[in-house]
Amino acid sequence: MPNPRIAILISGTGTNMEVLLKACASGELPAHTVFVGSDKETAKGLATAHNLGAETKFFSYKSGRRAAEEAIAKAVRENNIEWIVLAGYMRILSPEFVHEFAGKIINIHPALLPAFPGAHGIQDAWEAGVSTTGVTVHIVDEEVDHGPILAQEEVKRLDGDTIEDLEARIHKTEHRIYKAALKNFFEARNKK
Ligand code: GRF
Repeated sequence: MPNPRIAILISGTGTNMEVLLKACASGELPAHTVFVGSDKETAKGLATAHNLGAETKFFSYKSGRRAAEEAIAKAVRENNIEWIVLAGYMRILSPEFVHEFAGKIINIHPALLPAFPGAHGIQDAWEAGVSTTGVTVHIVDEEVDHGPILAQEEVKRLDGDTIEDLEARIHKTEHRIYKAALKNFFEARNKK
């Protein structure tokens, strides 16, 4: 079976995307990244993806979410994308979009879901004073930061930590577990 064709969607720095792109290129992750898309034309990650030789696409939300999602869906269909990989994509996908690609959208979240969903998972966990937070990789369903969990790993808050220290360890964990979780997921699918 050929490697699955994936699209990665980002909104910002794109460090997770960069790790995934490099893992695809080296063969460590058995997938082919067909394009990297962003809702932000100036996202740093888009330039990174371009410099790494990936095709990049900008999906404008200027005319609303529906138009933007139609453009994404069209690109996904036309390019025979099998999995949509969200890597810091800061838009909420509509239930209609999720429904069309049910079970085909994967996300990473910087907290131990179902705890601390939303755009500020690290900060919310920090402010709640939890001693353990973490990272979750999951399939996206119609609810925000919700759906079947593919992988989860704890990250402890250590004595003397600043929020930046905790954040750095969470990102380091993300970079390791996203590619590992996707690898397991794609390999399981290849065996079917
Ligand atoms: C990550 O923490 C991810 O979990 C969250 O957004 C952040 C994106 O970081 N959804 P980067 O753009 O991959 O550096």
